[in-house]
Amino acid sequence: MDKPTVAVIGATGAVGQELLSLIALRAFPAKNIRAVASARSAGRTLRVGKNTWRVEALENFDFSDVDIAFFSAGGSISSEWVPRAAAAGALAVDNSNAFRMAPDVPLIVPQVNPEMAPSSWNGRIIANPNCSTIQLVRVLHPIQRLYGIKRIVVATYQAASGGGLRGIDELESDTRRVLAAEPTLPPRRFPAPLAFNAVPMVGDWLDDGCSLEERKLVRETRKIMGVPDLRLTATTVRVPVRNGHSEAVHVECERPVDVAEVTAALRAAPDMAVYGRDDDPPYPTPRMLGDRTKVHVGRIRRNPDAPSELWLWVVADNLWIGAALNAVQIAELVLARSSAEAVHA
Ligand SMILES: NC(=O)c1ccc[n+]([C@@H]2O[C@H](COP(=O)([O-])OP(=O)(O)OC[C@H]3O[C@@H](n4cnc5c(N)ncnc54)[C@H](OP(=O)(O)O)[C@@H]3O)[C@@H](O)[C@H]2O)c1
Repeated sequence: MDKPTVAVIGATGAVGQELLSLIALRAFPAKNIRAVASARSAGRTLRVGKNTWRVEALENFDFSDVDIAFFSAGGSISSEWVPRAAAAGALAVDNSNAFRMAPDVPLIVPQVNPEMAPSSWNGRIIANPNCSTIQLVRVLHPIQRLYGIKRIVVATYQAASGGGLRGIDELESDTRRVLAAEPTLPPRRFPAPLAFNAVPMVGDWLDDGCSLEERKLVRETRKIMGVPDLRLTATTVRVPVRNGHSEAVHVECERPVDVAEVTAALRAAPDMAVYGRDDDPPYPTPRMLGDRTKVHVGRIRRNPDAPSELWLWVVADNLWIGAALNAVQIAELVLARSSAEAVHA
């Protein structure tokens, strides 16, 4: 196959700019890359790294020449435009919530369920999971294989960048105002002011008392791990961190766990950085994260009172691991599979 033409929808946003950056950094084999956003940004020059693009408006955009379309412009845009891109023959990799639970749409984390990737890409839709789900399943997968999992309890500590560019702006301006003892503005992107705070509601508040983010974590983890009745419960919290989601993960396993064995299995898992007490630093923190291409795991410990129960601290870059990098890795996986298929045909 010739090199694909790629379009990034939502190119001016937090995830879209990381997509453009990663396509260049990973030397993704693209013939042409088009940056697409709302009519507000049409004609604007967008600079990411050493490259510049003239932004095109989605409302006039023709997908017939596009081979791969990465969507990161929100759920309502995806609901309308992802099927159009697929109908025009493109592989549509969607970062929004719009298609994740659709039974006929694969929800893929390449390090966990690569077998779900199609071997031909024309007209296919693939959903990219929610940011907090991706880092969680990356860690649960090796533990499930070692011991089997009975139940998971998660608390998340989610960064402002999960709310896009407006989320980062709101955290920064609120922080400046508090430090300057100026009156703060009413929150817009988050349900409560984020500076020097912790907000236990990420996404809409649902009728059953959970938040939408908590529901996504449960449903998406079940789908990706192929365990429809997996017992998982979560509290998702927004914290005043610029970028990088953290999770405190409690796993009750089917059998007693051995911390050295868990540590070795996580070290052997793809793209994982594992920390112990003797390391420097001894555990990951979002502000000092280091390698953005890895999931970082520390504080691995057994509950002293329950030998089948494990605690872990998991940190990852939500814009890369949780969105743009996972999306690019999905496209790389599909391209590799379709090339292998063509060789065998
Ligand atoms: N941030 C994260 O950590 C994260 C992680 C996983 C998934 N996601 C998902 O990724 C998507 C984008 O999130 P984000 O954080 O990048 O948001 P963002 O920073 O607010 O960016 C939104 C992007 O969507 C574009 N857009 C808005 N309205 C549009 C329209 N009518 N037509 C075309 N483009 C339009 C914006 O273009 P303009 O600049 O022209 O307005 C901008 O490029 C969302 O679905 C989000 O749920 C985000």
